[in-house]
Amino acid sequence: MRILEVEANRATKCRILLGESISRLKEYCGGRRTIIVADPMIVKLYGEKLKGFEIVETGMGEEEKTLETVEKLYSRFLELGLDRNSFVVGIGGGIACDIAGFAASTYLRGIGFGFAPTTLLAQVDASVGGKNGVNYRGYKNLIGTFNQPEFVLCDFELLKTLPPRQVSCGFAENIKCAAIANRELFEYLEGKGEELLKLERPVIEKAVYDSLAVKAGIVARDEREQGERRKLNFGHTLGHAYEKVLGIPHGEAISIGMVAAAKLSVRRGMLKQGEADRLENLLAAVGLPTSAEASKDALLDAMLKDKKREEAKINFVLLRGLGDAQVVEMGMEELEALLG
Ligand SMILES: NC(=O)c1ccc[n+]([C@@H]2O[C@H](COP(=O)([O-])OP(=O)(O)OC[C@H]3O[C@@H](n4cnc5c(N)ncnc54)[C@H](O)[C@@H]3O)[C@@H](O)[C@H]2O)c1
Ligand SMILES: [Zn+2]
Repeated sequence: MRILEVEANRATKCRILLGESISRLKEYCGGRRTIIVADPMIVKLYGEKLKGFEIVETGMGEEEKTLETVEKLYSRFLELGLDRNSFVVGIGGGIACDIAGFAASTYLRGIGFGFAPTTLLAQVDASVGGKNGVNYRGYKNLIGTFNQPEFVLCDFELLKTLPPRQVSCGFAENIKCAAIANRELFEYLEGKGEELLKLERPVIEKAVYDSLAVKAGIVARDEREQGERRKLNFGHTLGHAYEKVLGIPHGEAISIGMVAAAKLSVRRGMLKQGEADRLENLLAAVGLPTSAEASKDALLDAMLKDKKREEAKINFVLLRGLGDAQVVEMGMEELEALLG
């Protein structure tokens, strides 16, 4: 097992336990009364490993990531008599972790919580960084908090039951972290498509650890996304638009978004064509799409509605090289031109 410590601006520390087993969860709950908030699929697949815990199930799917679901959790917390010393552990993909983190952060003005993410996406991205939230009136993650979990327990064995498409999607965030800030990781991942897709242990361990180190470093320097943290949005401005318009999974959408952002970086003379090609090849090697047909008007409309937009300009992340990102302010006209 490897441990990575994330320090956030506000004195809190989060320990990421990589390669730990979910069977040892209790050791990290500090003897407190612990309630598990879990994705129903996890309860079905791994309930045996969670014996002895009180479990509350969340719903499944993005439609359930709502205030109504959080309200149901508050009712259960009240019925169960949780107090300030109780502890919540969110177990599941990004959805269960986001819901559990938000409910725990707001119940009784905040009780302690941890996560055991069970999808690759949640292990490399969603469970780390302190953002917890739910969707509201069709806007993703509109309501939420910045609050770090005490720990994030990543059990790699759980990933083996994920559908292959879900695994590929997780690698999109991995590759993103490498592309924006760790050239050595990027070069390590190149040519390892097969090992990655088979979730081979040493390879997956390095991929997850190094990506989290990138994210943790950035979050420690800019928890509230006033500057550097925006780099983590590489591929996301366009990606979110594709996700909304085509209804494709997040990882697939940001893969397309990253390729488009790399093309724009080349067009602006910042990035060599060869490096943009390498990014595209690596994404394709882990089973991700690198382009898609979509209506230009619909994409622009979706981008205008993105809550990350600040007035007429958009903060767009470009690459100067593999492992080196830069945030630039961009007008809508340039984005429009990019979409051809
Ligand atoms: N808070 C953040 O910083 C942050 C960052 C990125 C994404 N997110 C959020 O994460 C969510 C997406 O997360 P996700 O992709 O993990 O989706 P998800 O939570 O819906 O999980 C995907 C599916 O996999 C199933 N599943 C989970 N673990 C499994 C396992 N081990 N074996 C078999 N099946 C399993 C789930 O039941 C679900 O059907 C989005 O809502 C997104 O907004 C949050
Ligand atoms: Zn993402």
